[in-house]
Amino acid sequence: MTNYKDLGLVNTRDMFAKAIKGGYAIPAYNFNNLEQLQAIIQACVETKSPVILQVSSGARKYANANLLRNMARGAVEYAHELGFDIPITLHLDHGDTFELCKDCIESGFSSVMIDGSHLPYEENVALTKKVCEYAHKHDVTVEGELGILAGVEDDVSHEVSHYTMPEEVEDFVKKTGVDSLAISIGTSHGRTKFTPEQCTKNADGVLIPPPLRFDILEEIEKRIPGFPIVLHGSSSVPIKYVNMIEQYGGSLPNSVGIPEEQLRKAAKSAVCKINIDSDGRLAMTAAIRKVLAEQPEEFDPRKYLGPAREELKELYSHKNKNVLGSANQA
Ligand code: G3H
Ligand code: 13P
Ligand code: ZN
Repeated sequence: MTNYKDLGLVNTRDMFAKAIKGGYAIPAYNFNNLEQLQAIIQACVETKSPVILQVSSGARKYANANLLRNMARGAVEYAHELGFDIPITLHLDHGDTFELCKDCIESGFSSVMIDGSHLPYEENVALTKKVCEYAHKHDVTVEGELGILAGVEDDVSHEVSHYTMPEEVEDFVKKTGVDSLAISIGTSHGRTKFTPEQCTKNADGVLIPPPLRFDILEEIEKRIPGFPIVLHGSSSVPIKYVNMIEQYGGSLPNSVGIPEEQLRKAAKSAVCKINIDSDGRLAMTAAIRKVLAEQPEEFDPRKYLGPAREELKELYSHKNKNVLGSANQA
């Protein structure tokens, strides 16, 4: 058993309390490899932002659980070496079983998500409660989910979004003992968050997505005032990266994300954790494609992963400063 405190990590309790009071959201950035982790830590130390390092079950398999634990420990030491200790959480993203959550808790995670959103309500309650009871014995915090996002959540794909029903949230929070709640108000995973039919087009032909359902968020906040809310599927899918990828040989038709102004507005509410993965994938891929297209003789991975890391760092700094408002909150 590795306790997260021995790795220098923190759970999300204080982070979220401060974020709600301060009207900002904590960035939850997914990572699978060294360069992504370096970029997240560099950006968050430079902008003095707390951060949630987020690992999906697929990422854990890809990178290896032991390596990941030690990478998280290394991230804490790296931040210290860079000159500013920021609060760092290691979080399981979209945990789907009690066993996976338990395994993560025992291997140094300070926070886990149990995603029972696709289950019938009472089964979601029972599973989430079981994870909370175990996690809280180890002072690990738990995120649950009510409502289903459109798009792809690991292996489960949903063509339509089922918005969170505000009338369920109070009962769910009370019965499960969960520490934060992911909700569905129109965000979605991946780079194609809406079909072209769901969007309008501006004068330049750029797709404009339908607005998030802030009315549902407000209704939820009324029922569980001050309770930490989480938004998944919150990449903005910057047109700059989509264009760069297509310019250098890629093809990403119908890409559309969540506009930054809407995320900024959400961050000022009880939304205190915003999940971003796809934007990092886009930034990294764009930078790598550019180097390989412009320098076809290059074959040293550092020569294309280095620029990718720089692009990621710029992206994360921008999010912290201009979208989530987490800069200078560490
Ligand atoms: O919500 C899903 C995250 O973007 C993780 O994706 O399962 O491909 O690592 P992944
Ligand atoms: P994006 O695909 O919008 O980056 O969402 C990531 C996410 O919700 C991870 O849990
Ligand atoms: Zn998610």
